Amino acid sequence: MSYLMPALIGHRGVASEAPENTAIGLKRCKALGIKWVELDVTQAGDGSLVMMHDETLERFRKPTERISKMDREALKQVDAGTWFSPVFAGEPLLFLEEALDLVKTLGLGLNLEIKVNPDLPVEPLVNAVVATEGLDALNRGERLVISSFDHTALAQVARQKSEWALGALYEGVTEQWAESLADFTPYSIHTDFETLTPELAADIRAQYPLYCYTVNDPITFQRLLDKGVNGVFSDRAHAPDMRALVVAG
Ligand code: G3P
Ligand code: MG
Repeated sequence: MSYLMPALIGHRGVASEAPENTAIGLKRCKALGIKWVELDVTQAGDGSLVMMHDETLERFRKPTERISKMDREALKQVDAGTWFSPVFAGEPLLFLEEALDLVKTLGLGLNLEIKVNPDLPVEPLVNAVVATEGLDALNRGERLVISSFDHTALAQVARQKSEWALGALYEGVTEQWAESLADFTPYSIHTDFETLTPELAADIRAQYPLYCYTVNDPITFQRLLDKGVNGVFSDRAHAPDMRALVVAG
């Protein structure tokens, strides 16, 4: 049995080495031998799809600025690098189409996580993601998984793109995990590792590939592999101590 995603997936790019969800982060992934990356995409006030985990600019030391109140031009002015290190000063935010171009050029696989902006409706975000050029080509190349904590968003994707692989995300997975999957069939299940009991892992693995976030140390990684987990999202997906645990990183 082969799986779309490898055992080590770069979380937000390579978040221990470069600012998350940025072009420099993607290039660093490639240079460090990471094969698949997880990136977050959300929607701004003007409908732009921007690669961001958060709904505010707090990470960039502007806590009162909300993405829902910003447009593409304003987002282009954001320095998404200095907060991480002055070495990355001036690194811009990425927009989805730019991220897809870069993923394609670098030959990476992509787990695109749809982050619903709590200030904005879900439907336009999903419609805009689905309509973005480049995703179909990645899917055809078996280099795309779309995920979200919002399973209604995934059901909406499934209605338009039944051929796309979907990853159902959970925070605090429970025995009732399958109940939210009535309206679509996921490719894989993605969950935090803290709440994953051996029983739950076995139950999920009997039906779907299983991935955990965010796993940065080899002891936790090995414990999860022992539970049957297929792979992990890691800020250190390039690190030798993590790679040593899998045959093909
Ligand atoms: O997709 C896995 C992981 O990224 C989910 O959590 O908060 O890091 O986006 P978060
Ligand atoms: Mg994420």
